[in-house]
Amino acid sequence: MQTWIKIGLLSDIPRLGSRTIETEQGQVAVFRTSDDEVFAMFNRCPHKGGPLSEGIVSGRVVACPLHNWVIDLATGEATAPDKGCTRTVPSRLVDGAVWLELKAGRQVSHG
Ligand code: FES
Repeated sequence: MQTWIKIGLLSDIPRLGSRTIETEQGQVAVFRTSDDEVFAMFNRCPHKGGPLSEGIVSGRVVACPLHNWVIDLATGEATAPDKGCTRTVPSRLVDGAVWLELKAGRQVSHG
């Protein structure tokens, strides 16, 4: 069962940056755009597993630090001509707090 879990504050995430959260299913990268939108996805590039949390955020995409694939933050899809998809995690911003929809009972720790 999925449930919404509060993982911290928007202000904990640098603008045009990210922070990582450990979950039982793997590390999740939580991104903040320049206009304070929040997106989350597993921290593995669909190309060769590069750490997307260390990539450059611009607009609503992140460029992987390893080989520069550009991943759409909303869908997790690589932009053409590259093909691949990273699983996204539903996220929500409520009164300055960031919530992710994760499996109920899952251990979450902040990275
Ligand atoms: S691992 Fe991300 S572009 Fe190659």
